[in-house]
Amino acid sequence: MEQLQAIRGMKDLLGDEAKKFSYIIDIAREIAKNYCFAENFFPLLEEVEVFKRSLGDSSDVVTKEMYDFEDKSGKQITLRPEFTAQIMRSVISNSMYQELPKKIFTYGPLFRYERPQKARQRQFHQLNYEFIGNDSYLADFELIMMAVSLFEKLGIKDKLKLEINSLGCGESRNAYRNKLVEYFSKHKASLSSDSQKRLDTNPLRILDSKDEADKKIIKDAPEFSESYTESAKKYFKQLLEMLDKNNVEYFVNKKLVRGLDYYSHTVFEFTTDLLGSQNAVAAGGRYDDLILQLGGKKTASIGFAAGVERIMCLLDDEIEDEIKYAVVPVSDAQINDCYSLLQEIRSNKVKAEIVLGKSNFSKRMQKAQKLNPQYVVIYGADELLNNEVRHKNLATSVEVSESKDNFIASLRE
Ligand code: HAM
Repeated sequence: MEQLQAIRGMKDLLGDEAKKFSYIIDIAREIAKNYCFAENFFPLLEEVEVFKRSLGDSSDVVTKEMYDFEDKSGKQITLRPEFTAQIMRSVISNSMYQELPKKIFTYGPLFRYERPQKARQRQFHQLNYEFIGNDSYLADFELIMMAVSLFEKLGIKDKLKLEINSLGCGESRNAYRNKLVEYFSKHKASLSSDSQKRLDTNPLRILDSKDEADKKIIKDAPEFSESYTESAKKYFKQLLEMLDKNNVEYFVNKKLVRGLDYYSHTVFEFTTDLLGSQNAVAAGGRYDDLILQLGGKKTASIGFAAGVERIMCLLDDEIEDEIKYAVVPVSDAQINDCYSLLQEIRSNKVKAEIVLGKSNFSKRMQKAQKLNPQYVVIYGADELLNNEVRHKNLATSVEVSESKDNFIASLRE
């Protein structure tokens, strides 16, 4: 029989990778709490319309990457490819308008049918933060500060560069779009076939092209800043000034447009040069009109998402997660008392394991050492009789016997 495998682009997270994953989630959650984001959870499945209406008909996610299917009632369903549109759907379906502004944190698996490669999978995970119902540049500032704190806490801040741009308001965007169409139309014959198509559907996306011939033409394309309205210019200026005042380093990348259509004003990415072509570790921006496309009421919002797998690639060290005490009964007669001691240790939130299964004490000690604990606790008839605990520090080989009461008291320190 052919051996069963995980589906292409989907991974079992085991061992050190699983430890890194949990470590990242713990830190993401802690940061969310510090910045007063409420943790919410959303379904894996949504109606296809949620993403079709919001991400843009010409976005790669909608045109080729959704895991969509018809369910038993004939509805078009998809595994969610991202959180933002889903969360806006939730704002509408739960009539959250009265509760706004609201900060929501969530994390979990997302699905995109892309060609798998290093740091790009078909099932991947994001940490996702949305600041919903706030139209001030200060919300953009706070969110970016939070992203910086997150990467600082994870120890990867120095590997990342913050690239930022403004797509202006709707008016600026239309003016820019016209300028781009005029410019790229003059060079249409030299553009890649994908970019030629985008000239009709979404000319802004041409700026994102990785095609070498396209890149040469893009180099001299008009810049967004030439089309900003006064208010869009002011908004971006105020945000950059706040970042300057708070010593946040950034690089204004005038060609940064993002692959999803719902953004206006601020867009940003945290990029790295350590992951080849998959250089965006986190990305986000303002999406004031997304909710209108889903049939909701105007709700100005900003958010960002960080890819957990990409963060995992940037963490150097293994995550420390060692067992503190391995408890070894000298003979089977002490098993029951060892479990009582273990219960005391664990109830003090200290990581401990019991070593069983080998009849002979020295074999049990060998097995205990394989767990690589800080201490081995030896519990035999003498210890039981004297109400003592004997423990050996494996790094120093120092062995100490102390009263059980002392030992338990020390767990609480
Ligand atoms: P996105 O740029 O599509 O934006 O994805 C955000 C991040 O998710 C990327 O920077 C990357 O780290 C990770 N990512 C995306 N696709 C993959 C993949 N196939 N494999 C591994 N990691 C991946 C969004 O999804 C927006 N919803 C972000 C946002 C939140 N904007 C506003 N709020």
